[in-house]
Amino acid sequence: MLSYEDNEKLVRVGKGTPMGKLFRRFWTPALLSSEVAQRDGAPARVDILGEQLVAFRDSEGRIGLLDAFCPHRRANLFFGRNEECGLRCVYHGWKFNADGACVDLPNVPAGEILKFNMRIQAYPTFERGGIVWAYLGPPELQPKPSAAEVFELPSEQLYIQKMMLHGNWLQHMEGDIDSSHVSFLHSSNRGGNQSGSPLSSLIFADKAPKWIIRATDYGLMLAARRNAGDDATSWHWRINQWLMPYATQIAAPEKELFITNVRVPVNDETSIHYRILARHDRPFDEADRAVIAAGLVFPEMIPGTFQPKANPENDFLIDRELQRTASFTGIKSIPSQDYAVTHRPGGQWIADRSKEKLTKSDMAIVAMRRRLLDALKGMAEGREPPEASRPEAYRVRSIDKVLPRDLDVAAGTKDWTAALA
Ligand code: FES
Ligand SMILES: [Fe+2]
Repeated sequence: MLSYEDNEKLVRVGKGTPMGKLFRRFWTPALLSSEVAQRDGAPARVDILGEQLVAFRDSEGRIGLLDAFCPHRRANLFFGRNEECGLRCVYHGWKFNADGACVDLPNVPAGEILKFNMRIQAYPTFERGGIVWAYLGPPELQPKPSAAEVFELPSEQLYIQKMMLHGNWLQHMEGDIDSSHVSFLHSSNRGGNQSGSPLSSLIFADKAPKWIIRATDYGLMLAARRNAGDDATSWHWRINQWLMPYATQIAAPEKELFITNVRVPVNDETSIHYRILARHDRPFDEADRAVIAAGLVFPEMIPGTFQPKANPENDFLIDRELQRTASFTGIKSIPSQDYAVTHRPGGQWIADRSKEKLTKSDMAIVAMRRRLLDALKGMAEGREPPEASRPEAYRVRSIDKVLPRDLDVAAGTKDWTAALA
């Protein structure tokens, strides 16, 4: 369990909050590049970390990320005109470029002069791997972006689905690092693997993994150890890599498709899930595309939205007959299964962790919360989070592998994972 005070520290993400400050020391996924695909095209709403922003791609292809509200009388710039290297407010015509400089004040007699002192809040951005990244923190502390492999892969080796979810960011991320739940939530009605699932069947044969957790320069190496079936000389290891502060690389066998989940707070009660399927070494093929289309690894979406078809309003389309005959949950896709159990109905979007009964199965979650709370304490005492200035440390991989029992897990996997801790 967590005290009410510690829970509050972790879940609140607005500008002046402890966790809001920590997030603002890292580059953050702000939107998909495809949301602002066209130069001089429609702007996109960007609500992240409790701030309301607007993004646009200007005439030269640069991305602007501005306060959504015009500094004149606070009209919504989402309705603005994206034209000639700037976004023009449609209320009285003030115009701002991608750097936030005011370049036109047409309704003011002395506008030509006044515009030199007029600015709008603008955040730096860059594009990589189909995502527009933004830095919302103090300019003097702007770090280099994370060198995590998944964020540097070419687009032919990636598939990204963006989903807008009810619920605080932390409770969704806790599911990402919780290897224990996989044996149940994502199983068949008989406790084995779901049909069509890429997960190892060993996960379902041993439902009580032992955790080996190591603190690292980038976050945590979270290794869940299970029996390797009948092989009494080996262990089955699933190593998830938790990358401070919001990304988790999920265990997958070497050179296979792997998933990364990124959890970006919209505000305290809503979060964005970027679910990324990737290949380390080659473009996707037909079989990979079939995995995406099958509806198990990714949910079906409501066209034109970031809303999964299975959502809280329809009880995640739970099929009780399917739950009796084929699936532990009766809910079709893995992300929807995750969403259903982390969602709190009735508008309780923030989990009350003071009511939890944690066990050894929750050690990874405890370690992650502790790591974040320690970082918050450090910042309160004037120490910057060191992870933000170690982008190269993020170049690690997750893994799912059977190893001899007498081999140390980090030593036995480091050739692939590059995690040396
Ligand atoms: S409110 Fe934007 S120009 Fe007046
Ligand atoms: Fe899950």
